[in-house]
Amino acid sequence: MRDLKYYRDQIDKTDDEILRLFKERMDIALQIAGYKNEAGLPILDSSREQEKITDIIGKASDDIRPHARKLYSTLFELSRAHQANVVKPNKKKLLVINGPNLNMLGIREPEIYGEKTYSDLVHYIRTVCEGLDVDVEITQSNHEGVIIETIQHAHGKYDGLVINPAAYTHTSIAIMDALKSVDIPAVEVHLSDLSKREEFRWNSYTAFACETTFAGFGFEGYKKAIEYLINRKKEKF
Ligand code: DQA
Repeated sequence: MRDLKYYRDQIDKTDDEILRLFKERMDIALQIAGYKNEAGLPILDSSREQEKITDIIGKASDDIRPHARKLYSTLFELSRAHQANVVKPNKKKLLVINGPNLNMLGIREPEIYGEKTYSDLVHYIRTVCEGLDVDVEITQSNHEGVIIETIQHAHGKYDGLVINPAAYTHTSIAIMDALKSVDIPAVEVHLSDLSKREEFRWNSYTAFACETTFAGFGFEGYKKAIEYLINRKKEKF
């Protein structure tokens, strides 16, 4: 009769082989994760897992079938956990739109808008976005039509929009309509506190198309808007 050592040696050899194959399987799972990451696909594909389980149960002999089901369910779970370590959530993309005369920051009415220039503002927004791991594109235009086209072209490309429509805030139903035409959450920003300024600045058409407004915080209003969009608990962001 064979002794216990013989059987244990057999088990050890089988385990070595299982471990080698397990490692191989986990490595392939990582490659799949990389592919899914690129393609923007979720890690879990329930129908594929279901197909695999059905296939394996079909191939397994009667005596081990329920164990095989349990083993493979665990394997899939481990595989997903392994993949989750390498899959980074897709970076959010934000578009910042600045309206007329904001390119004159630093020169225009420094007692209201401060001494910092437009390129200081761009640098500030970029730094905030880098810190929050968000991709950002920043635009400025003095033309209503250009702003409208920028908003229209943003459709389907951005996860959030920050807009300081500047003087168009108080006049442009067209920019409000453009914001409403695209399915992108938008936040309005003003450097100055409009409620403390001339009465003609109290009305904002564009605010009707934005989820919220930050006014009177200077550059920091942009940061507040970006953070708002990132923390927004809706399907988009
Ligand atoms: C502004 C306020 C507007 O009323 C004004 O026309 C601007 C700048 C702001 O950021 O405070 O150009 O949007």
